[in-house]
Amino acid sequence: MRGKILNILLVVLSVAAVTVVLGSKSSWADNEDANRGKSTESERQTDANAQRLLDEGKQTFRFDTFGDEAFWSDALQLHRAIAGANFGGVGPGVSPATALAVGLKVDSDALPQSLISQLKHGRVDLNDPGTTLALLKLNVVVGVKGNFRTDGSLQSVGITCALCHSTVDNSFAPGIGQRLDGWANRDLNVGAIAALSPNLKPVADLLGVDEATVRTVLQSWGPGKFDAELFLDGKAFRPDGKSAATLLPPAFGLVGVNLHTWTGWGSVTHWNAFVANLEMHGQGTFYDPRLNDPVKFPIAARAGFGNVRSNPDLITAKLPALHFYQLAIPAPAAPAGSFDPAAAARGAVVFNGAAKCAVCHVPPIFTEPGWNMHTAEEIGIDDFQAKRSPDERYRTSPLKGLWTHQKGGFYHDGRFATLRDVVEHYNSFLGTNLTEQQKLDLVEYLKSL
Ligand code: HEC
Ligand code: HEC
Repeated sequence: MRGKILNILLVVLSVAAVTVVLGSKSSWADNEDANRGKSTESERQTDANAQRLLDEGKQTFRFDTFGDEAFWSDALQLHRAIAGANFGGVGPGVSPATALAVGLKVDSDALPQSLISQLKHGRVDLNDPGTTLALLKLNVVVGVKGNFRTDGSLQSVGITCALCHSTVDNSFAPGIGQRLDGWANRDLNVGAIAALSPNLKPVADLLGVDEATVRTVLQSWGPGKFDAELFLDGKAFRPDGKSAATLLPPAFGLVGVNLHTWTGWGSVTHWNAFVANLEMHGQGTFYDPRLNDPVKFPIAARAGFGNVRSNPDLITAKLPALHFYQLAIPAPAAPAGSFDPAAAARGAVVFNGAAKCAVCHVPPIFTEPGWNMHTAEEIGIDDFQAKRSPDERYRTSPLKGLWTHQKGGFYHDGRFATLRDVVEHYNSFLGTNLTEQQKLDLVEYLKSL
């Protein structure tokens, strides 16, 4: 009897419980149905804002010179060397063959169909500087913007972020293909290009040396390198006599990373303002009183780089979208076949454990959440480059997309030619005693990131 009552009670209770659950579920479901496909006004504004920032940022990253023609053309006269004597400039001019040889890239998506078929049939003279001018007119040379007079002659050139931080996929021909924004252009010889300038006096005056010295320094950089600190401290060579230039880093996969550049100068947007004003020589506003230090940054302190004001300001209004776009560019996945997946999976275990890599390169951002900086001693290298920056440290490199920039080596100056060399360095410096198999697996993992 007691059992029966209990049973009935249980049935009643469970029916009630199911009713409650179903009842509440159906009212949630009603609500969800009513709201499906809709969002609040503020959500819609945020989505539209994100899309606008992406579009504008991409344009800025690819095409904006921030008025830096005033430096590259009005002052250095680079456009005259590109055009050559036959087209109103000076010297032999720069043919497409020469341009490709110094690492400049051509965006095949922006080439008109007629030119594509002429190129395919070998009917374009790649040794004629006139062809370079035609390409500049079409705005297809990645990172270089040409401005033309009404008579068709080249009036000026300027450079954009894409010059150093984009390349192409070579799908049409070597150096000609679809844009890959954010990829470090390790073929680009920035020094050789700048050294073409007929007039390097403005740079020589800034650095307090003669023009011949400036040319020697520019020629010492080599492909894939640039010296962003030269205009601050005037140090062109390291104590060992090698060039003080650093590798061009990628500008993708930066979201979630606190400090940027090899030596952690600041946030992405700090550095964007820095580069646009002080390196590209665009016209804007830049404030960083750390540059007023006359001992550490004698050139910058003398030139007043710690507080730059231009009228009009062609940079500041573009910083928000530029920042947003760079944070949105993902690090590209390693192509299938470029690494051994089974070895990479074993290598992940080594990375996170025995090799101690993940202590600093914390997955999935592969740098430290927080203040991602280390002294030279902590990573077992010299402090020359670290000392050229405000915090005198090296920033833990985010490692995603390493496979895209193996040319030129690793670490800020490319001192380690291969990933195996990097692994050997850490193994002896950290005393981790990895086996041969662990080292091989670790390299496969690094290639897979
Ligand atoms: C002449 C080549 C060149 C141009 C043009 C250039 N950069 Fe760079 N960029 C570099 C080099 C070299 C570094 C590393 C500097 C350092 O660590 O001292 C760098 C660093 C960076 C970084 C830091 C990446 C990281 O790993 O944290 C970002 C972001 C960046 N550049 C964005 C830009 C943007 C945006 C522009 C355009 C406004 C631009 N760069 C123009 C050469 C260039
Ligand atoms: C103490 C912190 C620390 C540890 C531990 C550490 N790294 Fe690094 N790593 C750094 C720093 C800082 C840099 C930047 C060096 C520079 O700028 O020259 C770096 C740079 C690198 C680079 C070069 C990236 C590039 O773009 O050139 C690779 C690859 C790398 N580390 C892999 C590893 C591996 C693999 C391990 C484990 C065996 C490891 N790291 C352990 C801090 C660390």
